[in-house]
Amino acid sequence: MTDPLLDSRHRPLRDLRISVTDRCNFRCIYCMPKSTFDHNYRFLPKGEILSYEEIVRLARLFVAQGVTKIRLTGGEPLVRRDIEHLIEQLAPLPGIEISLTTNGSLLAGRARSLRSAGLHRVTVSLDAIDETVFARMNDVDFPVAEVLAGIDAAASAGLAPIKVNAVIKRGVNDGEIIAMARHFRGSGHVLRFIEYMDAGNANHWRMDDVVPATEILRRINSEWPLEAVDANYPGEVAERWRYRDGGGEVGIIASVSHAFCADCTRLRLATDGRIYTCLFASQGTDLRALLRSGASDAELTQAITGIWQARDDRYSELRAKGIAVVKKIEMSYIGG
Ligand code: GTP
Ligand code: 5AD
Ligand code: SF4
Ligand code: SF4
Repeated sequence: MTDPLLDSRHRPLRDLRISVTDRCNFRCIYCMPKSTFDHNYRFLPKGEILSYEEIVRLARLFVAQGVTKIRLTGGEPLVRRDIEHLIEQLAPLPGIEISLTTNGSLLAGRARSLRSAGLHRVTVSLDAIDETVFARMNDVDFPVAEVLAGIDAAASAGLAPIKVNAVIKRGVNDGEIIAMARHFRGSGHVLRFIEYMDAGNANHWRMDDVVPATEILRRINSEWPLEAVDANYPGEVAERWRYRDGGGEVGIIASVSHAFCADCTRLRLATDGRIYTCLFASQGTDLRALLRSGASDAELTQAITGIWQARDDRYSELRAKGIAVVKKIEMSYIGG
C-alpha cells in the first residue's frame, strides 16, 4: 500500500463526487431558481460534457490515488441517458462504494436497473411531505407521492440504507420539520435535515433564510427526545442523532453553523471535466482538455496528485469567520 495522498492540510483524498449532467427536471428555489435557469439559460452542449468512457478513465486514476467512494450527482443524474451503463463500468473498480443523489422523480422505474448495474445506495432529496409546500420548493409541481414511490422502489431493489435529504429554508418549509420526521420515523430510512447553503450565486442566499441545526434539533427533540450517535466515518457530513424511543435515526448537515472542512476528503468532478477541490470553489482545473489532447495515464495522474497536494480549501470555516467568496460555481454544475 502506498502512502495516502494528502492535501496541504493533511486531508486524504477519499470521495469523488461526479456530476454527470448540469440539467434537472426540477427548479428547486435554493438550487436552480427559475429566475436564472429559464429558457435562456445555456446548459452545457453535448461536446463539452465528459463521455462515460472519459469519466471511467478518470475514475480509475482517482481510485488508484485512494478514492473509495464515488457519488454520482448533478443536476439530476437520472436525466442523463443510460446512466446504468456508466455504473456498470464503475462498479468493478476495486474497493469502491457507488452511490447516487437523486430527486427521486424517475427512481420508481429505474431502481431495479440501477441496482443490477451495480449501484450500492441512493440518497433521495425530498424537502416536504405536504404537497403545496413541496411544490413551492421544487417549483415544477412535482407530486410527493411519486418521490415516495421512488424511495419504496429503491428499498425493494436493495439500494439500502436509503438517506433522505431535506434542505430547510426559513419561511418556506421549516413548518415541515416535524411532519417529515414523523413520516420517516420507524421507516428504516435516515432523514437528514440540511442547512440551506450559500452555494452558487443564483439563489440569492441570505443568512436569515437558514434554520440553524440547533433549532431543527430542538424542535425534533421536544417532540421525540434524541441522543447523539458517533459518526460512521471520520469527516462524515451529517451529524447523527437517534430517537430515544427506538424510532431510528435522523441526521443534520450543518455546513453553515458547524463547518466540517477539517476532515473534508471530497473532490468534485464537474460535468465538463473540470475538477474542483471545494464545493464553494470559484475555479477548477480542466482535465478534459488534458484528456482530449492525448495525455497518458501518468500525465493525468500527475495533474490529479498535484492539484490535491496543493489543496488548501476550507470555505465553510472561512465563512464562519466572515470571509466571503464573491463568485461561486452553481451547484447543479459542480455537483452537490
Ligand atoms: P454520505 O455520507 O455518503 O451519505 O453522503 P453525503 O451526505 O456526503 O452526500 P449527499 O449528496 O447526500 O450530500 C448531502 C448534503 O451535504 C448536500 O446538501 C451536499 O451539498 C452537502 N455536502 C456534501 N459534501 C459537502 C462538502 O464537502 N461541503 C459542504 N459544504 N457540503 C457538502
Ligand atoms: N443548500 C443546501 N443543500 C443544497 N442542495 C442543493 N442546493 C443546496 C443548497 N443551496 C442539496 C440537494 C441535494 C444535495 C445534493 O444538495 O437538495 O440533496
Ligand atoms: Fe435539481 Fe437537485 Fe438542484 Fe433540485 S436540488 S434543482 S432536484 S439538482
Ligand atoms: Fe470541503 Fe469546501 Fe465543503 Fe469545507 S466547504 S467541507 S472544504 S467542500
